[in-house]
Amino acid sequence: MSKKYDTIILGGGIIGCSTAFYLSKKGQRVLVLEKGSLGQEASSAAAGMLGVQTELEEESPIYELARKSREMFPNLAEELKDMTGIDIGLSQKGTMRLAFSEEQRADYREIAVNQKLKGEESFWKDKEEIVGMEPCLTDSLFGGIWFPKEGHVSAPDLTQAFARAAAVNGVTFRESADVYQLIFHQNQVVGAATDTGDFYGSAVLVAAGAWSRRFLLGEEQALYPVKGEALSVKTEKAMLHTTIFTDDCYLVPKKGGEIIVGATSTPHTFDKRVTMEGIGGLIHKAKRLLPLLGRAEIDRIWAGTRPMTGDGLPIMGAHPDLSNLYFSTGHYRNGILLSPITGKVMADYIAEEATLITDLSAFKPERFQYQTEVSPL
Ligand code: FAD
Ligand code: GLY
Repeated sequence: MSKKYDTIILGGGIIGCSTAFYLSKKGQRVLVLEKGSLGQEASSAAAGMLGVQTELEEESPIYELARKSREMFPNLAEELKDMTGIDIGLSQKGTMRLAFSEEQRADYREIAVNQKLKGEESFWKDKEEIVGMEPCLTDSLFGGIWFPKEGHVSAPDLTQAFARAAAVNGVTFRESADVYQLIFHQNQVVGAATDTGDFYGSAVLVAAGAWSRRFLLGEEQALYPVKGEALSVKTEKAMLHTTIFTDDCYLVPKKGGEIIVGATSTPHTFDKRVTMEGIGGLIHKAKRLLPLLGRAEIDRIWAGTRPMTGDGLPIMGAHPDLSNLYFSTGHYRNGILLSPITGKVMADYIAEEATLITDLSAFKPERFQYQTEVSPL
């Protein structure tokens, strides 16, 4: 039998890499199996927004987790820079969520008040104030909410930084290792089989993003792909300081005048082709928000596959029937934001379940139906 690991992680996206990093801090021997190259799927397609207040409902069980995760970023950025030399591009210049109708104005004013009552920094701004802060924006707006604590990172850099830091701590990464099935001994999962060999571990964590359903996530609605198309442009002079978020599209200003424009949303497809309709629609919406963008040079266009679940919440925890099998997937639109806290709590869960302080009951896998046999791949 080959070397036995403490934990084998299936999938080298941001969730697999962050969990490998936090497990390695506990001294675990960890192996990450990635079918292609690290971060090649959703984790390199993401715009990298850390949008707790912008993207999540306060009532959602994920909100508190996301808030804790956002707070981890400043220290994490330093730690990863020290360990790997990689700058994850953390920017904390806030986000504006813009209103374009009377109805939105009323809704957003209420959100701002409610969030403030709960101790969040959230401020309603009239049109004049918004345009004063971001002079290149259109003035056909009704105002917006200003969330000064929101920010963004470079999603591909963060994924690579987690992976390299984990490697510094001794984690083994195997790329081009497509896991085609789990290895069982009675009702225990003992390893994973790839076309380049079998690997054995005391625990197996499925973190294969939108592809995780292959590994015993039976019901179709438990986990499904949602395609997102996006583009980036280069501008000579910085046109924005803050992230701009609307119901139609978002604009994320990166270093060196780059702006990411995102993103479409097409459920139930693994097709990553970039379409005229998808990109054309984003360009049209983005130019309405920021008219000067019409002169910007298109840099890249791409698509990625978000892992979505039937109830919109991630699946984090142990398989209800099979020992040693864990899931951490379904982070949908927020996997970059949630990556630090997810890695940390799943490492705690796998390594020392008894001391777990974060309540994961809303994310438990048993809310969906499972198969106990692997589907043919
Ligand atoms: P993935 O990154 O998809 O990683 C899964 C990995 O598993 C892949 O590398 C895959 O190759 C591997 N794998 C699959 N099957 C196997 C197998 N059989 N064997 C071995 N390896 C396997 N989130 C935010 O927080 N903020 C944002 O601003 C944001 N913007 C986004 C914009 C777009 C256009 C998209 C598409 C997503 C965005 N997201 C954002 C969401 C975020 O990208 C995802 O939630 C996150 O990347 C999911 O990470 P993951 O590791 O679960 O999945
Ligand atoms: N969170 C932004 C997106 O998924 O497009």
